[in-house]
Amino acid sequence: MQIPGHRLGDPELPRSLIDADAFATMKEVALFGDDDVAALRRSGPILEPQIEAVLDVWYGFVGSKPFLLAHFAHPTSGEPNGEYLARVRARFGQWIRDTAAARYDDDWLRWQFEIGRRHHRVGKNATDGATSTAIVPFRYLLPLAQPIVQTLRPFLAATGERVETVDAMQDAWRKSVLLQVTLWSSPYVAPDDF
Ligand code: HEM
Repeated sequence: MQIPGHRLGDPELPRSLIDADAFATMKEVALFGDDDVAALRRSGPILEPQIEAVLDVWYGFVGSKPFLLAHFAHPTSGEPNGEYLARVRARFGQWIRDTAAARYDDDWLRWQFEIGRRHHRVGKNATDGATSTAIVPFRYLLPLAQPIVQTLRPFLAATGERVETVDAMQDAWRKSVLLQVTLWSSPYVAPDDF
């Protein structure tokens, strides 16, 4: 099923600032290796039947913090935009699948840059025609990685895998989210400094 606004694999997306060679050095710094790719692949079918439950937890977190929910709300009235929330939620679910299955190729890198633009004023709201805040402030981007990876654990453990396997999957998710959010940060950073 095609999810509105999901553009992984769209050749019309602008090129990413980071090519495969540069991304290989980023993976090296994050200690992200073949074992992590395998652990992410393993997490895919475990998470698939739980995606809505995972999203309930993640949306519950954002929804419980007015300063985060504001970025899904009308900029002046502060009224949460249910349609915007729902459309982004569908793509967030797809992001779980994409993260588990990622190939780290040119298409994937382009898509990461697009997700970054969608958090920044250069692209926020455009995909869904939403009326909301202009930008997700940079100060929240990296910290949100912690609740995302932390709350994933019970879902990774739900099928009764050994604790070492659950640890490996959670570590791989931590590294992948760290690398992705770093790529997403590019519109916030002067290009020569990225
Ligand atoms: C680790 C940190 C984060 C992750 C993994 C994450 C993940 C995502 C994903 C997967 C999407 C959908 C992308 C798409 O397919 O269009 C998205 C969009 C969005 N996220 Fe985040 N996000 C993070 C940080 C934040 C923070 C801190 C906020 C603040 C409330 C936020 C607010 C939004 C908004 C408003 C959108 C919709 C942007 C648009 O208009 O297209 N995100 N995020």
